Amino acid sequence: MKAILCEQWGGPETLQLRDIELPEPGPRQVRIKVAAAGVNFPDVLIIQKKYQMQPQLPFSPGAEIAGTITAVGSEVSGLKIGMPVAALCGIGGFAEECVVDATLCMPLPPGVPMALAASLVLAYGTSWHALRDRAALQSGETVLVLGAAGGVGLAAVEIARAIGAKVIAAASTPEKLAVCRQHGADELIDYSHEDLRERLKTLTGGKGVDVVFDPVGGAYTEAAFRSIAWRGRHLVIGFADGNVPALPLNLPLLKGASLVGVFWGEFAKREPKANAAGVQELLGWIAQGQLKPLVSKTYRLAEAPQALMDMAARKVVGKVVVLP
Ligand SMILES: NC(=O)c1ccc[n+]([C@@H]2O[C@H](COP(=O)([O-])OP(=O)(O)OC[C@H]3O[C@@H](n4cnc5c(N)ncnc54)[C@H](OP(=O)(O)O)[C@@H]3O)[C@@H](O)[C@H]2O)c1
Repeated sequence: MKAILCEQWGGPETLQLRDIELPEPGPRQVRIKVAAAGVNFPDVLIIQKKYQMQPQLPFSPGAEIAGTITAVGSEVSGLKIGMPVAALCGIGGFAEECVVDATLCMPLPPGVPMALAASLVLAYGTSWHALRDRAALQSGETVLVLGAAGGVGLAAVEIARAIGAKVIAAASTPEKLAVCRQHGADELIDYSHEDLRERLKTLTGGKGVDVVFDPVGGAYTEAAFRSIAWRGRHLVIGFADGNVPALPLNLPLLKGASLVGVFWGEFAKREPKANAAGVQELLGWIAQGQLKPLVSKTYRLAEAPQALMDMAARKVVGKVVVLP
């Protein structure tokens, strides 16, 4: 089968398209013919040895997939050959077939497009876990979403709206902010030109935001934390900016505020039932039309390195997927 391989640590340009052996599932695994693989920022980090998980070389990047089961391990029950599923594979998704732990597969209801299913698990799963589970976001509260037109960012905009919160979307271009508006943002901040703290002060009447959703890091983190309301929650999602910020600890004290870590991959592994409940809520919201995940571009398998280059260059809006 064909697969994109990371054979040495480096940028997307070092990835290679290779013919490799079809992988065999272990007793508790299944093999999936990959119809679509979601592209996520951790894919950019993992090939450069900059992610918390470091697989053995060579490996295929690609953390989430949707497709059809082609082989089932001897101890797996409830999953059958031919079933359409979405799955969290961690690595291995940018390939024609991929082996996944059976516990990380979610059978798909009929009619869900594969590109959409492959975009849902990780980005929407992360944003659901962050807003619903870690921040306990309530209807009527105000949320600031940084990097709001990105994969987890746009998912957070939509989920916060579905919960009934007021959403302030911050992103770096008018085009990205227009997409955030289409997906439900109430207020927009272009943080490449506008002063984040001043705008937040004006937009919240000096009260501050109840929840910050922060997948960007860098200098935005402290500016956002200084704009948080009493009893606010700042969700630490990631550091797309490349810089892991540090905060003076008097800030959470003064606001009675919380700095809340979010690690969805670990949550999905440690608490699969809670994660599955999240996916069910997400599928329900999609069925009601409350969430409209945006797949803005698709790439062929050979173009997967270009997909990662576009993501690293801040060119991606919403989700993009690779179609092996
Ligand atoms: N904690 C978890 O469980 C978890 C799960 C998934 C992802 N993540 C993390 O969340 C972050 C976002 O992931 P994603 O898949 O949503 O990525 P993405 O689609 O590329 O979105 C990242 C956003 O960050 C902003 N950004 C600011 N500076 C950037 C830079 N130097 N390079 C690239 N983007 C920059 C961009 O928006 P603007 O151009 O508008 O600023 C971009 O839209 C990553 O750090 C990822 O590792 C964490």
